[in-house]
Amino acid sequence: MDTAVVAQYSKSDFAGDVRAGLLRPGQKELPSKYLYDEVGSALFEAISVLPEYGLTRADERLLRRHARDIVSRIKTQVLVAEMGSGSGKKTRWILEALARRQRTTYCPIEISPTALARCQTELGQIEYVSIVGFERPYLDGLLAAASGRREHEHLLVLFLGSTIGNFDRDAGERFLTEVRRILYPGDALLLGTDLEKPLPQLLAAYNDSIGVTAAFNLNLLARINRELGANFDFAAFRHEARYNPSERRVEMHLRSMCDQTVTIARAECTVSFAKDETIWTESSHKYRAEEIPAMARRNGYCCDSQWMDSEWPFAESLLIAQ
Ligand code: AVI
Repeated sequence: MDTAVVAQYSKSDFAGDVRAGLLRPGQKELPSKYLYDEVGSALFEAISVLPEYGLTRADERLLRRHARDIVSRIKTQVLVAEMGSGSGKKTRWILEALARRQRTTYCPIEISPTALARCQTELGQIEYVSIVGFERPYLDGLLAAASGRREHEHLLVLFLGSTIGNFDRDAGERFLTEVRRILYPGDALLLGTDLEKPLPQLLAAYNDSIGVTAAFNLNLLARINRELGANFDFAAFRHEARYNPSERRVEMHLRSMCDQTVTIARAECTVSFAKDETIWTESSHKYRAEEIPAMARRNGYCCDSQWMDSEWPFAESLLIAQ
């Protein structure tokens, strides 16, 4: 795999965001993008195979079952770019379906070098597929991948796994518009979204019985200790997953079990926590399949088709840039 320029989050961005999020008045917050260091990415891979967390399996099932149909609906010459490829495991089906009809270039876009390396191992052997990785944030990487397209080549952008659910709804729509600006009419975006489902099923998915999701959440504090010289005591915080019905999202929080003070040396701050105060670390918005076409229209696309999983409510929507 060729890998383009490295652009991890810098320590000073991380320190600034941690400081701003923990010193803000009211609800303390940490951006969810920082959950994914090397340990966090490995824990997320483990979450994705937990019995309670059906999301990744539903995404994979849909791609495996419908790859040929999906590919038959897009233009013939395409460059594939995937924002947040992870290990790329579920993308295999789309690439194999495309490679049956053309030589295909696949551009995984990831800020994690470990995930990009895994992607190469997972997909590097598919005949007629070449991989050009971009170790960059999504839009920078997409812009770079798009600039490498040949004349008459269309883009197929993959944004799978319901990563859009981790954006606030407005930010998700703005993101779709930003992606649309990089596309030409006729280019395609395959968007995976987790759908609303019964509350017990939803809460179990984010609060599994063996504590992998708790470890994933608490690792954010461990990362702050490791990288910013903080002294968080993990035993004094507890993972919590709650459903916010008005926003239709699961929120992950870390609840302080006592009054305590934490010093974060490289963010030059000391933060006080009252007993039961929480740090909000992630939101996972849930969608209704029928709201995707309207969302697509508002942001410059037309929803060509949707595929839904019957075991775990999840949708893949093929959006065509207008
Ligand atoms: C990556 N993202 C779609 C996952 C989700 O379901 O929101 C991250 C995750 N957080 C806890 N479990 C999984």
